[in-house]
Amino acid sequence: MRSFIPWIGGKSQLAKRIISEFPTDFERYIEVFGGGASVLFASDKHAPIEVYNDANGQLVNLFRCLKYHREELQKEIRYYLNSREMFQDCRNRLESSGTTDIQRAAMYYVCIKISFGADTDSFGCSPKSLDTTRFEDIEKRLEHVLIEHKDFEELIKQYDRPNALFYCDPPYHTTEKHYSERFAEADHYRLNAVLKALKGRFILSYNDDDFIRELYKDFDIKAVERQNNLSQGRFKEVIIKNF
Ligand SMILES: C[S@@+](CC[C@H](N)C(=O)[O-])C[C@H]1O[C@@H](n2cnc3c(N)ncnc32)[C@H](O)[C@@H]1O
Repeated sequence: MRSFIPWIGGKSQLAKRIISEFPTDFERYIEVFGGGASVLFASDKHAPIEVYNDANGQLVNLFRCLKYHREELQKEIRYYLNSREMFQDCRNRLESSGTTDIQRAAMYYVCIKISFGADTDSFGCSPKSLDTTRFEDIEKRLEHVLIEHKDFEELIKQYDRPNALFYCDPPYHTTEKHYSERFAEADHYRLNAVLKALKGRFILSYNDDDFIRELYKDFDIKAVERQNNLSQGRFKEVIIKNF
């Protein structure tokens, strides 16, 4: 199944390719940089323990409200429409303290859906729908998925076991500014150090970049390509594994 939101750097186009690298014998699956969770939704290789994680608190609140308060969230979203004024209003009110989690989740959903390229920052000027009919299927898929809100390092150490499979899709090197959570050069090194010490297995996606190839030169690196979402042409990426 597809995700219910578009997301910057989302892996819907590469999901099947990434899933084809999954081993068959993992007992826990952890999506460390969750975003729109394209790979988790696309995969039918379910594990007894599945975890979605992201450092973005608004996004995690949206996932949790969809999982635990799906009907209420749908009711709340019904009152929004695709207009510039409503978009600005949602953006401003998101940071105010006088709203409930469900209201914040609805406003964040609106911001993602009707912003330009899902950047949540600028009005998209396109006739996108705020339809929520797929929410029931998404709620069912999330039924047994743990939703975490942690920095990647703490999360990976918490769930690491020999039978674990981690899918890591961090902000790409040199494009980190697209996300609300700050991701610095030091964080790429920090991720590399945690993954090098891993007991379990990991699959990592990145942009095809000299810095990343050097950092992961001891691992299996495969070059892949996908259609560029924001402009014409192809975008080069890599899939890196420790098995
Ligand atoms: C490339 S996106 C993931 C896209 C996702 N795979 C998809 O298909 O939609 C990277 C995500 O990492 C999250 N992130 C940034 N810094 C993080 C951190 N320190 N720990 C965990 N997640 C972080 C961002 O909020 C963003 O959602």
